[in-house]
Amino acid sequence: MGGLTYIDFLAKFGVGGAHPGGIGLTKSILAEENITNECTILDAGCGTGQTAAYLFDQYKAKITCLELNPIMIEKAKNRFLSLQYPIQLIQGSVEEIPFQDDSFDFILCESVLAFVNKPKALKEFNRVLKPGGRLLANEMTINSKLNKQAEEEIVQFYNIDSLLLESDWVQLFEECGFTDIEIKSLHLNLMDNSSAQEFNFSQNFEPELFSILNQHGNMLVKYHDILSHRIFSCSK
Ligand SMILES: C[S@@+](CC[C@H](N)C(=O)[O-])C[C@H]1O[C@@H](n2cnc3c(N)ncnc32)[C@H](O)[C@@H]1O
Repeated sequence: MGGLTYIDFLAKFGVGGAHPGGIGLTKSILAEENITNECTILDAGCGTGQTAAYLFDQYKAKITCLELNPIMIEKAKNRFLSLQYPIQLIQGSVEEIPFQDDSFDFILCESVLAFVNKPKALKEFNRVLKPGGRLLANEMTINSKLNKQAEEEIVQFYNIDSLLLESDWVQLFEECGFTDIEIKSLHLNLMDNSSAQEFNFSQNFEPELFSILNQHGNMLVKYHDILSHRIFSCSK
């Protein structure tokens, strides 16, 4: 695979809504919250910026995006420029967030924690959230414990450090200072045709990335009853 990762595939293919349920599920998650144009919102690990653009379009909120990958940054920047949306876009890591304590009313984290040092990022989220602020996270979750070999296969493919059960996530949120942890059972509105996958391909991309796409598909089929996701909503 030449050192290329699943995130490299997402970046070069410019996959928008690169999280379970896509932008359709994002809309349902946001609709449950009390978001106004006064709110400060951090889209942590924003990818190509599809969610952030929707947040501005729908709520006119004050949006900041944080993203580490330079290709994702470029694609998000072009999106916001072409839409002329005043969204602040910063290159940096969720493990060391370049903002002051108590900065945001909401942090949205869609399929990002899975790929980073989770306690480090969650402590940072807690630090930069205002008191009473909310973290909304849609993250990879296993439905039951896996045998060592299966766990190793998934962890290696996605280049992640661990796979968490729902109960592991809840414990981790608590350890990192979060309260009122809710697990939302929200589903995609199938009548919403904006949920179709969005791509923004880079001009040059390595053919091996197709093999990563294939392997991702195989992984979802092979582990369809175990590899899942949960939507968590919690307060500082
Ligand atoms: C699965 S993608 C999800 C992207 C976006 N949230 C979405 O739903 O389309 C994970 C994203 O997290 C970003 N990421 C990975 N590690 C990061 C870090 N330490 N800090 C900030 N972003 C990171 C990746 O570059 C990628 O854009």
